[in-house]
Amino acid sequence: MIYAANFKTNHTRKSTENYIEDLQRHLLNKNSEDRVLIFPPLTALDNYEGDFTVGVQNAYPVNNGAFTGEVGLEQLAEFNINTILIGHSERRDILNESQEDVAKKFAFFKEQGFEIIYCIGESLEVREQGLEAVMEHLLSQFEGIDTTYEHFMVAYEPIWAIGTGRTASVEEITSTHDALKKVVNKPLLYGGSVKGANIAEIAAIENVDGVLVGGASLKTETFLELVLH
Ligand code: PGA
Repeated sequence: MIYAANFKTNHTRKSTENYIEDLQRHLLNKNSEDRVLIFPPLTALDNYEGDFTVGVQNAYPVNNGAFTGEVGLEQLAEFNINTILIGHSERRDILNESQEDVAKKFAFFKEQGFEIIYCIGESLEVREQGLEAVMEHLLSQFEGIDTTYEHFMVAYEPIWAIGTGRTASVEEITSTHDALKKVVNKPLLYGGSVKGANIAEIAAIENVDGVLVGGASLKTETFLELVLH
């Protein structure tokens, strides 16, 4: 299983340091075949070492240049970051990233050999129309994306389940992941209100290869409930 922690706009440099120190101590007990990835905010990036990978939640697809407020490859290289989240629904919906923007970002970081966790997900309105409509929407989010790229994972995150406490049902996750696997044969994470109370049933689903976790990743205790479940 892959356990990815997305801190979003939470934690400081200091609290991330404390978190990682505590996490590393407990990761000695994890299954050796499991992987842990941490996505702290930009200001908390550093050369952390341990049995986990630190990635970036977002970056601008340039090496460097005049892009006020953005971070490019040069800033990430200082901390040996070569893993990135692309296409998260918060970036698509709140920061207005279009599919074209997302695809451009994907192409740039693919070119750099980054490991990419590529997020897709549907709104409640689409989910209520059934699996066919959901798949049509999800497949449209692969437009311009090379799904055969070697260092590529997909995170399926229904928007209505993110940060809401409302997880997709086992049936919804199963049918969506089964359909996605037929199209993209890559590691497939589920995200959306994953927590200690539902990790066992979600992790047991055949085509769930991991989880992308927001809220429950913010404290080591609740994140470790998932990693060590
Ligand atoms: P959540 O967030 O676990 O708080 O629902 C998941 C995500 O957005 O990656």
